Amino acid sequence: MTFPHHIKIVEVSPRDGLQNESQILPAPVKIEFINLLSQTGLPVIETTSFVSPKWIPQLADGSDVYQGIQKNPKVVYPVLVPNMKGLEAAIAVGVKDIAVFTTPSEAFSQKNANCSVTESLHRIAEVVEMAKKKRIRVRGYLSCVLGCPYEGKIAPEKVGEIGEILLRMGCYEISLGDTIGVGTPPKIKRLLEVVSRHVPLKYLAVHFHDTYGQALVNIYSALEFGIGIIDSSVAGLGGCPYAKGASGNVATEDVVHMLNGMGIETGVDLKQLIVAGRFISKQLGRIPQSKVNLALGEAIA
Ligand code: HMG
Ligand code: MG
Repeated sequence: MTFPHHIKIVEVSPRDGLQNESQILPAPVKIEFINLLSQTGLPVIETTSFVSPKWIPQLADGSDVYQGIQKNPKVVYPVLVPNMKGLEAAIAVGVKDIAVFTTPSEAFSQKNANCSVTESLHRIAEVVEMAKKKRIRVRGYLSCVLGCPYEGKIAPEKVGEIGEILLRMGCYEISLGDTIGVGTPPKIKRLLEVVSRHVPLKYLAVHFHDTYGQALVNIYSALEFGIGIIDSSVAGLGGCPYAKGASGNVATEDVVHMLNGMGIETGVDLKQLIVAGRFISKQLGRIPQSKVNLALGEAIA
């Protein structure tokens, strides 16, 4: 078995993490958090979203946060955008990278975006077209790829077909979201076998929520399959308020620790990551949901 020498980590905590918190943190706290993450060596930090503040009030300050952070020239700072209104708001503050989202599940599309899957693809097409004109890069998310809290099983073939549509539209990367964490290693392999017939592996990322404690072993399976991009979230923050059962993402500290142990480079400094994870956990009044952070953190902080 040969693993990739280098893995790209996409940090999603400021968006996926903070969107799911019952308390709304002030913009200066989010800015301080992202500034800490920017010093860790992470190549990509998904900063916020420009979605409806009625749907996600936790991130209603996206413009202030994006403008307030100290941008490290080595880091890419994408924001999540659901429609043209979100894109226009992102353009107004100089965003250079966005992420769009859809799903193979009709029911989840209705719950999360108030539209059908087809309608969501129309919205995305419009967004991508404008983004291209503005030289903004677009990443695509597919949610509920291994199961939906409303529809149950999802056919891998459908994931592949929609992934291919996003790629053809012009998304530079397709992130496969196990939103409710129902994946297990055989399911991951089957999914990647089917999806990689539609979307070449080099364009695929995995985005695993850890609801059943399977995220790390699922990532290992994805690495065996040749995946080179992993989404994760410091302190295990994360979840989608519109997906019942979606809890934290896999913790970035745990992923980096595992990859370090496998001799796979990430460019990420685990100590700095632990500092950022402890900072945000303290702000939220709890301990980090990362075994690695808990085991090593006291000595570092
Ligand atoms: P809607 O209610 O159908 O939208 O929501 P609408 O077009 O009818 O507009 C309703 C109101 O929202 C209007 O305001 C619009 O102006 C406003 P009003 O006239 O009532 O005052 N509005 C906006 N305001 C700011 N920014 C915008 C925007 N759009 C409309 N962009 C909509 C449709 C898509 C907007 C809504 O459903 C929405 O915002 N959904 C986002 C939900 C969300 O963020 N979910 C979490 C992210 S996805 C995720 O976590 C999964 C992922 O992590 C991968 C995985 O784990 O699987 C990515
Ligand atoms: Mg997610």
